[in-house]
Amino acid sequence: MCGIVGYIGKREAYPIIINGLKRLEYRGYDSAGIALFDGTDIQLSKTKGKVVDLEARAEKEITMKGNLGIGHTRWATHGVPNDVNSHPHYSNSGDLVIIHNGIIENYASIKKELQNRGYTFKSDTDTEVLVNLIEEVKKKENVKLGKAVQIALNGVVGAYAIAVFDRNKPDEIVVAKLGSPLAIGIGDDEFFIASDASPFIEFTNNAIYLEDEELAIVRLGRDVKVRKIKNDKLVTPHIHELQLNIEQIEKGGYDHFMMKEIYEQPSVIKDTYRGRLLADQGLIHLGGLEDYIPKFLNADRIIIIACGTSWHAGLVAEYVFEDLTRIPVEVEYASEFRYRNPIITEKDVVIAISQSGETADTLAAIKLAKEKGAFVYGICNVVGSSISRETHSGTYTHAGPEIGVASTKAFTTQITVLTMIALKLAKTKGTISKRDYMLYLHELELIPTRVEEALKSNEKIKEIAEVFKNASNFLYLGRGCNFPVALEGALKLKEISYIHAEGYPAAEMKHGPIALIDENMPVVVIAINSDHYDKVVSNIQEIKSRKGIIIAVVTEGDTAVTEMADYVMVVPKTPEMLTPLVTTIPLQLLSYHIAVLLDRNVDQPRNLAKSVTVE
Ligand code: F6R
Repeated sequence: MCGIVGYIGKREAYPIIINGLKRLEYRGYDSAGIALFDGTDIQLSKTKGKVVDLEARAEKEITMKGNLGIGHTRWATHGVPNDVNSHPHYSNSGDLVIIHNGIIENYASIKKELQNRGYTFKSDTDTEVLVNLIEEVKKKENVKLGKAVQIALNGVVGAYAIAVFDRNKPDEIVVAKLGSPLAIGIGDDEFFIASDASPFIEFTNNAIYLEDEELAIVRLGRDVKVRKIKNDKLVTPHIHELQLNIEQIEKGGYDHFMMKEIYEQPSVIKDTYRGRLLADQGLIHLGGLEDYIPKFLNADRIIIIACGTSWHAGLVAEYVFEDLTRIPVEVEYASEFRYRNPIITEKDVVIAISQSGETADTLAAIKLAKEKGAFVYGICNVVGSSISRETHSGTYTHAGPEIGVASTKAFTTQITVLTMIALKLAKTKGTISKRDYMLYLHELELIPTRVEEALKSNEKIKEIAEVFKNASNFLYLGRGCNFPVALEGALKLKEISYIHAEGYPAAEMKHGPIALIDENMPVVVIAINSDHYDKVVSNIQEIKSRKGIIIAVVTEGDTAVTEMADYVMVVPKTPEMLTPLVTTIPLQLLSYHIAVLLDRNVDQPRNLAKSVTVE
């Protein structure tokens, strides 16, 4: 959470920083700030609110041009979102300026020590403490900025991606990383710094991704120098060639990134299996998996760890893996797993799922599982992310950048990867018949077409959204592998429309939630053709007899539920195991339209951030 961006070179830094902040705004958007340096003067502008608010303010406050700049878009951790707590922060002398993504956990004790030495603080932030610690080290040890940052960071506990510059060193920015991401774009004697590569994609295709506990001195006229913070060892950084292009990070004619990403699902699901699934030849080939198939097949159990929507994808996978491979699966919230002293052995295989690849709890859970000897397999979307590097092996989802804070295409591509893994393992283990295996391969290849079909209900779903936009509660029900889809549907509605919603296994309804049913309660029921169809019909009758309103997701050609339901959203027929890939589509659209009708900020819902790099 929080986005950081920086520039040093020959260009005017201001527009690069402002545009960069706009692209990173998905990471946090409760306040924003910029500092510009022209080699003599520093001008700083910051404000509570979004980058557009910053722009309006900076127009008056930034009056000069500068070739060095840093900027920050914040998701508050220490200190409420207000102008003073916004970044960048000055040190007491006014010489050092810092931006920071992360949390310094021991900031209170450091602050006290600094106060005893006469330092004063304007903000409530841990970041202002850090910049003053760096200043104190610099003075006390009589060292240059890079060394002072290194010594200071060795004394802090927490997570950070920082960029700091010194008024006395106009050709240099020092950056460091632990836990939060940091990329350095390398141009022709110009450098870009950012939480991900999107702010500099039109300027360079070359980037260094700092590893944890690394510090880099970015100086004009010199190659980037990277060293380990702990032991001072110089590291030769790997320069990545970026695959991103500018269209991927723009809205492409849609009103919101979320809608663009919903509509991208047919093509990105194809990207996910392209070259990996050859249905005609009966082949699945996943590079990261091939060498580790025996590890999976000999595992006592598979433990899936994730958060939020990725956790829902894990729940879908539990149904798929157990059914196909007969390997026991447990699905855990990473945040619970890491703190409950879990039993993990070398015979366990852990699958970590994360779109961003930066989620702090998932990362910590991976480290714990590795310490206990488990093999950890990652499923990530962001290439080169911390989780993709921390896991022993893994598969990328190739969904492209997901910028809308509410996850959509990440979910369906995660399920696509997980299903391919399960099919591959089942085939190798012999727990699936040749006929079923071939059927699933062909049906998986058809999913993009099925999703396109499901998207055709968009206008109808918009009308349903109009009817229910003022409801204060929703219930979502599903059975089997569509129970996690019900959870996901409820989460989508909650996070972008701020309407309370609960997901339940349909049969659990009578163990409590049924008490909530009355004529004001819309109940979204996933009632597709499946082994559970008759049971779901009974659940719908129970709701109807209590005057509840049914919005049903049904399979095309359905009659029984369609007659009973108040509204239906139709999806094409697909084998039950693959239905989450299509039933989730109308639920994404429903929450999108309700949120738009309520005039919510769909892409940047309140209080949320796209990558949760704090626990
Ligand atoms: C919901 C959503 C979050 C994320 C969760 C995990 O729409 O986006 O619930 O799924 O924060 O994030 P990743 O997958 O990046 O680890």
